[in-house]
Amino acid sequence: MDYKNILKLISENLYCGIFIVDKNGKVIFYNQSINDLAGLNVENAVGKHMLEIFPKLTEETSTILRTLKTGEGLKNYVQNYYNYQDKRVTILSSTVPYYENGQLEGVVEIFSDVDKYNNMSQSKSSKSFMENTIYTLDDIIGNSKGKKELKNKIKKTANSNSPVLVYGETGTGKELVVQCLHSESTRRNKPFIAQNCAAIPSTLFESILFGTALGSFTGAKDSKGLIEAAEGGTLFLDEINSMDITLQAKLLRFLQEGYIRRLGENKCHEVDVRVIAALNEDPYDAIEAGTLRKDLFYRLSVINFSLPPLRENKKDIVEISNYFLNFFNNKLNKEIKGFSDEVLEFFKSYDWPGNVRELKHSIEYAVNITESSFISKSDLPDYFKLKNKKINVVEIDELKTDDSSSFMSLSEQVDQFERKVIINALKQYDCNISKTSKKLGLPRQTLYYKMDKLSIKMDKTLD
Ligand SMILES: Nc1ncnc2c1ncn2[C@@H]1O[C@H](COP(=O)(O)OP(=O)(O)OP(=O)(O)O)[C@@H](O)[C@H]1O
Ligand SMILES: [Mg+2]
Repeated sequence: MDYKNILKLISENLYCGIFIVDKNGKVIFYNQSINDLAGLNVENAVGKHMLEIFPKLTEETSTILRTLKTGEGLKNYVQNYYNYQDKRVTILSSTVPYYENGQLEGVVEIFSDVDKYNNMSQSKSSKSFMENTIYTLDDIIGNSKGKKELKNKIKKTANSNSPVLVYGETGTGKELVVQCLHSESTRRNKPFIAQNCAAIPSTLFESILFGTALGSFTGAKDSKGLIEAAEGGTLFLDEINSMDITLQAKLLRFLQEGYIRRLGENKCHEVDVRVIAALNEDPYDAIEAGTLRKDLFYRLSVINFSLPPLRENKKDIVEISNYFLNFFNNKLNKEIKGFSDEVLEFFKSYDWPGNVRELKHSIEYAVNITESSFISKSDLPDYFKLKNKKINVVEIDELKTDDSSSFMSLSEQVDQFERKVIINALKQYDCNISKTSKKLGLPRQTLYYKMDKLSIKMDKTLD
């Protein structure tokens, strides 16, 4: 088999650019995709030196020439640049040295167009967040003691530069609090950049957070990371426990030193950014699960906010409900006067697994749907009607007493225990299979299988 021809065939059919230079920096191979990504309009680049083809690069700024010099590759390196058509492109490159008998013989660079990830790149996220209005303290509704304390704490801590950790279940208002910390601070006219750590593949995150210093095709000018892009302002890292644990260590270093170094660069940059992180599980559970570094946790939680779930904060329910009723009346041009007593009672007794967001959406739905001037229970979303569905446990071991359990085999006792755990979780999540399986760390199919095996049946009759 002629591997050269096969390699050529593969490279011609890949939507990936391949560029190979020898130890002197002269091009020995490149494929068609380079033309699309770099606009390589040199008739035949083979045999020419890198700097002849890309005159804007230098020995110091080229990914390939640097790798030739240092012998160290660069993996998963994100670059933004303007191509020959003046179109902004984002590429992901890996620059790999190749050795023969211990001698550096050349460098291979492989890259792909990652414009599909563009919504994660710094320019877009900062732009979209800066275009949005930022919440202020007046947007936090509730007059309970807890809410007053929350607002006071925001006011007191807004102007500190210490990092902040905010945690609370989904929909409890974490983003609201974070935005208030920014809008209450003297940083308010500087960028507020929010990035969900779960949204970026971990291989790209380091480049996106810290920026990059070298380029493949043009001089690297546009390579700020999120931290630098937030200069003077606030960087909000949501779902911090989704960030790769080794990257968490690098973030910690930045928090301790106040300096960053772009990937591929030796120079440090001092950056003045307030970092706020959030997570929607108890940080101690995240530490236990190995998704949050303990040392980062201690550094981040110099100031921390723990937002209670709505079911533990029932005093605010009526006020928040009235606020959203008014809000959606205005938005939808309606004049609904209030809620029936039954609805308010229901609101106070319900668990609100989705917290304030769920309450808000329920009211939006009801305001849309109601035909009377008071919202009644029948105007609420259908899934509330399933709320009272009962877990009808078919007791296969009904006759067994605690005493007899000691005669059960280990696997029977394990089954019984497993059954209890599943039933409790189902009750907690109102028979919602997705949430229950997530909580138990089981795929949905496995949960269904276990429910079947352990004779756990749900009675889905409506009330
Ligand atoms: N106290 C409050 N007063 C008014 N609105 C609130 C309050 N708490 C939350 N909200 C509203 O509830 C919705 C959800 O809040 P937010 O996005 O801040 O939650 P979150 O904790 O970040 O949730 P997630 O973990 O799902 O991202 C938003 O529309 C927010 O404005
Ligand atoms: Mg949020």
